[in-house]
Parts: sequence; structure tokens; C-alpha cells
Amino acid sequence: MTCIFGNELFFTSYFAVKKMTDCQGDGEGTMSPMELFEKLNAQGEKVRSLKSAKAEKAEIDAAVQLLLKLKVDYKQMTGQDYKAGCPPSENLIVSNNGPAADDCDGEDLVDPWNVSASSTKGVDYDKLIVRFGSSKIDKELLERIEKVSGQRAHHFLRRGIFFSHRDMHQILDAYEKHKSFYLYTGRGPSSEAMHVGHLIPFIFTKWLQDVFDIPLVIQMTDDEKYLWKDLTLEECHRFTVENAKDIIACGFDVNKTFIFSDLDYMGASPQFYRNVVKVQKHVTFNQVKGIFGFTDSDCIGKISFPAIQAAPSFSSSFPQIFGGKKDVPCLIPCAIDQDPYFRMTRDVAPRIGLLKPALLHSTFFPALQGAQTKMSASDPNSSIFLTDTPKQIKNKVNKHAFSGGKDTVEEHRKYGGNTEVDVSFLYLTFFLEDDEKLEKIKEDYTSGALLTGELKKILIETLQPMIAQHQERRKQVTDEMVQQFMTPRPLNFKF
Ligand code: TYM
Repeated sequence: MTCIFGNELFFTSYFAVKKMTDCQGDGEGTMSPMELFEKLNAQGEKVRSLKSAKAEKAEIDAAVQLLLKLKVDYKQMTGQDYKAGCPPSENLIVSNNGPAADDCDGEDLVDPWNVSASSTKGVDYDKLIVRFGSSKIDKELLERIEKVSGQRAHHFLRRGIFFSHRDMHQILDAYEKHKSFYLYTGRGPSSEAMHVGHLIPFIFTKWLQDVFDIPLVIQMTDDEKYLWKDLTLEECHRFTVENAKDIIACGFDVNKTFIFSDLDYMGASPQFYRNVVKVQKHVTFNQVKGIFGFTDSDCIGKISFPAIQAAPSFSSSFPQIFGGKKDVPCLIPCAIDQDPYFRMTRDVAPRIGLLKPALLHSTFFPALQGAQTKMSASDPNSSIFLTDTPKQIKNKVNKHAFSGGKDTVEEHRKYGGNTEVDVSFLYLTFFLEDDEKLEKIKEDYTSGALLTGELKKILIETLQPMIAQHQERRKQVTDEMVQQFMTPRPLNFKF
């Protein structure tokens, strides 16, 4: 079953009936699909607790009858069956902050904490677009980006690595009218070392900053990592500084970039905190439970954290950059695992009189073991880290990179390899910029002319200098430079 309505019509009518004033309308006037959904959740919980308390049969029956009636109303209103964990709006999601509880499709699970696919080819991104209600980056949008920026599209766009968006056309409309927008992305600093997967949004964000000449804010969610992981506040803050060095090493322009630690900036910026509180007031516990899978035993810090990741989407959170303007559009490049935060943000934005952020979503850089899951910082053998030595890179690729080749050289020569599942080939699609060379490798591997060992060698020779150059650039990043990037100040930009 598909648990969201992927068409704009539904979203328009949903937002039209949704009361605009406060968290939740209670019984008066027309109930929105989300309110009905919440009522159903509460009624379901009531039935369960009556049953477990072994209440009177009549009382249980009455509660069940009401539940059934609400389900019928819900189906009539939305055209869909009610399913716990699958809310009826743009901010609906299958999601969880622990093990999977309720996967609406019964297939791929994608949220900020889990990525797992049922197929060896990885997540079915076309299905995800439908399920999340985003839009595919199609040829027309690619051509528009090239026209407006005056640059050839980045290979992440040309190769479908950035594959999905929300409202990118509106960003381009504004830019064409000489209205600036700004970029917002982030990192949850959970350890000292980032892996190459984490670089994807930053490499792409740097390209966007260069071609559009716009300001960028980078949120370091040290508070998030403190709440979710077994780490001290001091450790999380230290990881912020260490990770900021890797981010700066991607080449961001200090005059256009503000990097901030939540632990520092939340207390220092009254406007930022005001936006956090506004978001907190307009999202209910039921909604975040539906979106993120929080349970009653999650700490309250987790429950209110999504408002903190939402706040940088609003230009008024950065008065030092935007002079108090509320209407500078925001574009967020990230992998699609972060989308739940921004579905919530987009749902809440019009209700607090602010602009919805636009998004560009990337696919996941897969784990060495295969495209069924993403690289994870907690499993050293699943990832190539930015701190790895040439020898470690070679060993990891040779030992762990899942091969789409055949079992014997003879079979491989005869039948060829499968580039759709071969991790070495998939990695090259991210990092080998030469289109012709990549195409030739694909041809040769598919025909069997190129063996797995030879393909791995090409990958190793691509990754080793790339990581070494990153390490070299990182060495040049001093504490003073980090301090400069992290100081709230005006930024330079075109319009
Ligand atoms: P974090 O630290 O998990 O990830 C940082 C960024 O890297 C992306 N990412 C990946 N991209 C491609 N392949 C992968 N295997 C991969 N793993 C992670 C994430 O999507 C993210 O863009 N809560 C966030 C921090 C944050 C943020 C934001 C991210 C705060 N505000 C705004 C993006 C946009 C986090 O923990 O990200």
C-alpha cells in the first residue's frame, strides 16, 4: 500500500482545509485529514489500553465501533485506508528512530536513521518519489538549471545522483527575477571522521554556491548527536569543530558561508530561537510520532529536535546575513534521508507565515557491501573514511566492495558483469567525472572485457588521490579559519 498522496491537488486541498491558526482544531468545523488521522491514532491507542486493562466488554465494543467509524470517515475524506504510521500529508512518512515499525510499502525503509532496500540494486528511488510526494529532476529541469546558471549541470545532476526536488522551479523563477536565494545544509557530528558519503551534499552545495553566487548556512547538529548517541556534550561540540574542518576543506568561500554549532548559536541568536519555538508550537506530538516514529519512552529532547533542524530554513533565523528579511527563499541540498525534517518544515511554514524551503535530494552513496544500505560511520568496514590511508582504501575496496562480476574469469568473460549492483562501478559514477571514460568502463565490464579486479583497481586509483588531496586541503584549515567561518557576520552575495 502506498501511504502518501503524491499529487499536488491533494496537498492543495489538504492545506486549504487545514486550520491555519494553532496546533490543532478540536472538534469545531471541518476536520483536516491530519486531525482525523491523529484522532484515529488516539482512538487506536484507547482500544489497545482498554483491551490490555481487561475493561468491560461493552466499553471495548463501543471504543472499537468508534474506531471503525473514524476509519470509514477517513477513507471517505482521503480516498485511502487508514494506516498507523502513515499520515495523510506532505509530512507523511514511514519512519522510525529505532528498528522499523511500520514500513508503508513493506519494501524500502528510508529515514534519517535507517536506510535499507529490499533489492540488491538498492532503494527504488522512483517509488520513493511517489511515496514522499516529491518531484523527479527531469530533463526539462536540468536544462533550466543550465540555462539559468549558465553552466553545464554538475555530473551529480547529469547522472541522476541528485534525482528529486521540491519547488526547484520556484527557486529558479525567483533567481531569474534577480531575487537571491540561500543554501542550507548540515551535518550531525557523531564522530571525528566523516565518510565519503557525507561529502556528496557538500561537494554539490559548493557547486551550487559557485554557479549561483549565493550565501550558504551549514548547521552542525551537535545537540542532535548528544540526544541520540552515547556521547557527552563536549565530545559532540569537539566533533563539530573537527567535521567543520572537513567541510571547509571542500572549498567553501568564507565570505559567503556561515557554519554554526546548534549548541553555540541557539543561545546566541534570539531570532533563531524564536523560529524554533514557533515551529514547536505548530507541530503536535502525534505528528512527530507519525513522521519520525518517536515513542513515549523517547526523551523530550528528541521530540522537540526537529524544530531546530527546521529553523535554518527561514531567512529570519539569520538577521546578521539577511537583515531581518523573512522572505529570502531557501534551497536545501541533502540526501533523501533528511526529507522527513523538511516535510514537517514545509507543512508548518505557511502556518507561521514563512516560506516553505525548496529541496534537492540525492541518492545514497552505498555501503561497500552493496547498495541495499548506505555507508554508515559506525561500521568501519562499510565505509571509506576521509582519514583512510591509501593502503586502507586499497584493502577495503579489494576485500569488501561488493562485486557484480561472475564467479570465475571464464564465466565473467562469457557473460560479463552487472554494473547495476557492482559497488566499484557505482562509486565511480559518483567520483569519475569523465563521462566517456565511465561509459567505456561500463561497456567493457558488461561485455566481460574488464574483470572485477581491474575495475577495483580503477576505483582505488580514483579514490586514493581524491582522499589524499582532501587530507592535504584539510591540513591547511587552521583553528582561526574555523573560527572565522563560525562567527555570525554579514555575508557577501550578488543581489
Ligand atoms: P548526517 O551527518 O547524517 O549527514 C550529513 C549529510 O550527508 C548526507 N548523507 C549521505 N549522502 C549520500 N550518501 C550517504 N551514504 C549519506 N549519508 C549521509 C545526509 O543526507 C546529509 O545531507 N540531521 C542531519 C544534519 C543536518 C542537515 C541539515 C542535513 C542538519 N540540518 C540540513 C542536511 C540538510 C544529519 O545528521 O546529517
